[in-house]
Amino acid sequence: MASLVLTIRETLRYRGAVGQWSWVLHRATGLGVVFFLVLHVIDTSWSVFYPELYEKALTIYQHPLFTIGEFGLVFAVVYHAFNGLRIAIFDNKPELWQYQERAAYGVLGLTVVVLIPVFIGMAGHVVAHYNKGDAFVLPLLDVIVEQLPFLAGMVIAAIGAVVLSGLYGMVAGNEKATASAKLSGSPLERFWWSFMRVSGLLIVPLVLGHLAMVHVIQGVFDITVAGFTVVGTNLVNESGTATEFVAHRWNFLVGGVAVWKLYDIALLALVTVHGFNGLRYVLTDYTMQYPILRRASMYLCAIGALILLGVGGAALLGTIGPDAIAMATEARRAILAGG
Ligand code: HEM
Ligand code: HEM
Repeated sequence: MASLVLTIRETLRYRGAVGQWSWVLHRATGLGVVFFLVLHVIDTSWSVFYPELYEKALTIYQHPLFTIGEFGLVFAVVYHAFNGLRIAIFDNKPELWQYQERAAYGVLGLTVVVLIPVFIGMAGHVVAHYNKGDAFVLPLLDVIVEQLPFLAGMVIAAIGAVVLSGLYGMVAGNEKATASAKLSGSPLERFWWSFMRVSGLLIVPLVLGHLAMVHVIQGVFDITVAGFTVVGTNLVNESGTATEFVAHRWNFLVGGVAVWKLYDIALLALVTVHGFNGLRYVLTDYTMQYPILRRASMYLCAIGALILLGVGGAALLGTIGPDAIAMATEARRAILAGG
């Protein structure tokens, strides 16, 4: 923990070159997106397992607090994507290293240029939604209270990982963990180094395409509008429920293939493994000297990734039938009536 405090203090004190700030921003944006991903995959799985809860989750996504957060999320994804590409290119081309500083400014500039039209498009959806005059806004207290189980779950997972690591240490001793701290040049770590770069490249079109579909072309508010043709399909969301929206996305077939299901399977697998391995880099950086905490960080990331892949994968393999849509329609009616 002392090393985390030291890093924060020195980062703020050290008015370093742009390289220092782009490193901090890459780390902060990566962590922010991982945090969002955990909530998002669990929420989305409810469209299959608990349609009533999914309807509530969507009204939370549509709250002004989350609208502000979404601008931050889109900034985080776009900056991290461009900066990640810069890292991957420069790592493979030492002859370009003299241009590091210029490239870091270039990434910031490119992010701003891309975000201007994107933010205008997103703001257009927000304005159109509130101009209709019948916008439903959940009370702020409800929005905050609904997030508490997620936070509690994350704290319990962290405590569980420390307890598991402590137990392992009692049985097997802590020497092995200390030794493994020196394995950063191992073949396994070299694999992860390459994986982060290759997966990053593949994630760029997938995540930007996903955001373009559910965020720019069709806004978050359009997910629950009855009579809207669901983006990327020719199917109409008759009930205006978020559950029916997801059902149409995942059931839409092109030549007998559920294209958006396949797309989401690839997105889920790549962002979860990339994101949780990134989280492992960050956590192990700050727990290097403490074998129990270092091992707990690895357990947390490995088990966290497996659980998220399991929950998200089970939802993608499930089906959303007419019963689920009927339940969602009822739940949405009750939410709008304040019940
Ligand atoms: C959009 C395309 C993306 C690209 C091109 C990309 C690229 C990269 C690269 C090159 C690294 C550095 C790896 C290293 O130091 O060895 C990295 C780190 C990281 N990425 Fe990504 N990434 C992308 C998307 C994501 C997403 C969607 C998430 C979250 C789910 C994420 C979370 C992280 C985290 C937490 C780190 C560790 C940061 C650190 O060590 O300071 N990335 N990314
Ligand atoms: C606020 C912005 C976002 C909105 C409104 C949104 C919306 C949705 C919706 C409606 C679905 C259901 C299926 C579909 O339409 O394809 C979905 C699924 C998914 N989204 Fe997003 N998304 C957002 C951002 C992101 C980001 C940034 C990531 C990656 C880091 C992401 C990763 C996923 C994954 C992996 C799934 C599949 C989930 C599962 O298997 O349970 N989404 N998203």
